[in-house]
Amino acid sequence: MKCANLAVLLVFLHNAIAQNTTSAILENAPTAFPLPTESLTEPQVTSSKPQFMAEPFANVTGSLNDKGVCQCSVYLPDTTFPVQKVEMLQITAYTLSEKFDRELSKVSQYTAAIEIYEQKIRNLTIKVEHMEKTSVSYTELDFQLLKLEITEMERLVTQLKSTLVGSNEIVEQLYVEIRNLTLIVNDLESLDKNNILAIRREIVALQNRLKECETSRNQTNTPTYFPPGSCGHGGIVNISQPYVVQLNWRGFPFKYGAWGRDFFPQTPQNDLYWVAPLNTDGRLLEYYRLYNSYDDLLLFKNAREKRIVYGEGSGTAVYNNSMYYNIYNSRDMGKLDLNTNTLTVRKTLPDAAMGNRFSYAGVGWQDIDFAVDESGLWVIYSTEDSTGNIVISKLNETTLDVLHTWKTKQYKPSVSNAFIICGVLYATRPVNTRKEEIFYTFNTNTEQEGKISIIMDKMLETIQSINYNPSDHTLYVYNDGYQVKYNLIFQPVLH
Ligand SMILES: *[C@@H]1O[C@H](CO)[C@@H](O)[C@H](O)[C@H]1NC(C)=O
Ligand SMILES: *[C@@H]1O[C@H](CO)[C@@H](O)[C@H](O)[C@H]1NC(C)=O
Ligand SMILES: *[C@@H]1O[C@H](CO)[C@@H](O)[C@H](O)[C@H]1NC(C)=O
Ligand SMILES: *[C@@H]1O[C@H](CO)[C@@H](O)[C@H](O)[C@H]1NC(C)=O
Ligand SMILES: *[C@@H]1O[C@H](CO)[C@@H](O)[C@H](O)[C@H]1NC(C)=O
Ligand SMILES: *[C@@H]1O[C@H](CO)[C@@H](O)[C@H](O)[C@H]1NC(C)=O
Ligand SMILES: *[C@@H]1O[C@H](CO)[C@@H](O)[C@H](O)[C@H]1NC(C)=O
Ligand SMILES: *[C@@H]1O[C@H](CO)[C@@H](O)[C@H](O)[C@H]1NC(C)=O
Repeated sequence: MKCANLAVLLVFLHNAIAQNTTSAILENAPTAFPLPTESLTEPQVTSSKPQFMAEPFANVTGSLNDKGVCQCSVYLPDTTFPVQKVEMLQITAYTLSEKFDRELSKVSQYTAAIEIYEQKIRNLTIKVEHMEKTSVSYTELDFQLLKLEITEMERLVTQLKSTLVGSNEIVEQLYVEIRNLTLIVNDLESLDKNNILAIRREIVALQNRLKECETSRNQTNTPTYFPPGSCGHGGIVNISQPYVVQLNWRGFPFKYGAWGRDFFPQTPQNDLYWVAPLNTDGRLLEYYRLYNSYDDLLLFKNAREKRIVYGEGSGTAVYNNSMYYNIYNSRDMGKLDLNTNTLTVRKTLPDAAMGNRFSYAGVGWQDIDFAVDESGLWVIYSTEDSTGNIVISKLNETTLDVLHTWKTKQYKPSVSNAFIICGVLYATRPVNTRKEEIFYTFNTNTEQEGKISIIMDKMLETIQSINYNPSDHTLYVYNDGYQVKYNLIFQPVLH
């Protein structure tokens, strides 16, 4: 209690540099960094923080970009707050006050001086308390006063020194240290002018802008529009209710099959719907129909019906006016020109499991499943080497050569179906007889797998095939003989 004067000085310094925490964090941050929506914590500003005159230094922007993502950037100035110096100062001052304490308890001659000290301390304490209670800005004047106080203490120590006839080393040392404190306070003052306080204010402003941005985003919470064939989104976030188009043209017993809408990358004005129910054995692909418009499809009008011998399973896909399918009782892939109904390419899919070895859950004979996304043709299958886990290959749609292969950790017979969007495989599984879940993803761009949960309502129990069309972002699903459509909702890209 007797010699808390340095401690009080310290308390003051402590307050004077109260904006330290934030600056310490910022100091180690890159000079420019984006602040994602969630990353800003609550402001740590408590009641009374001194404020110094601050030069404008920062260049801060906060905006909502065209994807609906709130973005903010902070540009920090080159000058950084001397956090290490402050810490040093704190340690020094604490040590100092401890020493002081020890000495003063020993030396009785100091009593007179100490009384003055105590009064001074009380005065200083009152002043500090006042500063804390009022949230007025601190100015140059406050610093001047602080410096005066320190000078005064310096004078008192000088006095003490003379009364002790220069024989006390500790007092000598205290003198030097108080001089040092003066220098540090001067330093801090100049630095603080254009540093921490301004940063804190900018960050608070930024938080407010982010909140505004969030609010406005919440208000316009309609699904973001992505142009046909675009991959500028962050993947599936939701799916519509199923829209039942019709029962397949061959009738209710034809529970297996596939259907879809051709994706023409270069001539999107073309329209072609295809329906390929398997024979009732659930294995042979023999007949398919083509329609040049959605109306024709709905009305069973102007259908072009063709026969092939034979395809196998419901893994069929159509891309750029060619049909791709697994040729019966083989691991061969076939490319069929839909204008002429002729097989133009036949190629073995190396190592592919075949003959109902690793088909999907609840769906037979779909060892080889073709898929179309924005970038073209893919094939989803398994190998003995992959122990039945899903293998994905990107194909050259001209030659059916395998361009690249990815191995996943997902067992193929435990998923009910799969499709690919923007290079990301999505796999489904049944939840019950009326609900299906998109639960697994494998991103071939990053080779990362992931878990999601998007529930698809379904009309009937089994999903035999899913074909994705990049131009309308729709899934074409063959559900126990019914042709069903689902619209996909994508999320904006995050980070
Ligand atoms: C500055 O540091 C002190 C002690 O570490 C802390 O109590 C105070 O809250 C910090 N100031 C700010 C504005 O965070
Ligand atoms: C932000 O920085 C840019 C480039 O340094 C400058 O042109 C612009 O005027 C600054 N804006 C503000 C508000 O300081
Ligand atoms: C403390 O404050 C009182 C009243 O403001 C003043 O009269 C006194 O001189 C001050 N003492 C010191 C040591 O500054
Ligand atoms: C005072 O500061 C100088 C230079 O900053 C340093 O070398 C010296 O050790 C300091 N003295 C004490 C007692 O802290
Ligand atoms: C925006 O909506 C989300 C959930 O829909 C909610 O958690 C958040 O608090 C909302 N934000 C604002 C600023 O209203
Ligand atoms: C997902 O879509 C369904 C059907 O349109 C809708 O009822 C539901 O609210 C959506 N869920 C979310 C999280 O947007
Ligand atoms: C689509 O087919 C046409 C005609 O065969 C061809 O010229 C074009 O290159 C194909 N486009 C793609 C992306 O394969
Ligand atoms: C696909 O094969 C054709 C013919 O060999 C070739 O011209 C084309 O560049 C290949 N495409 C890709 C993406 O490898």
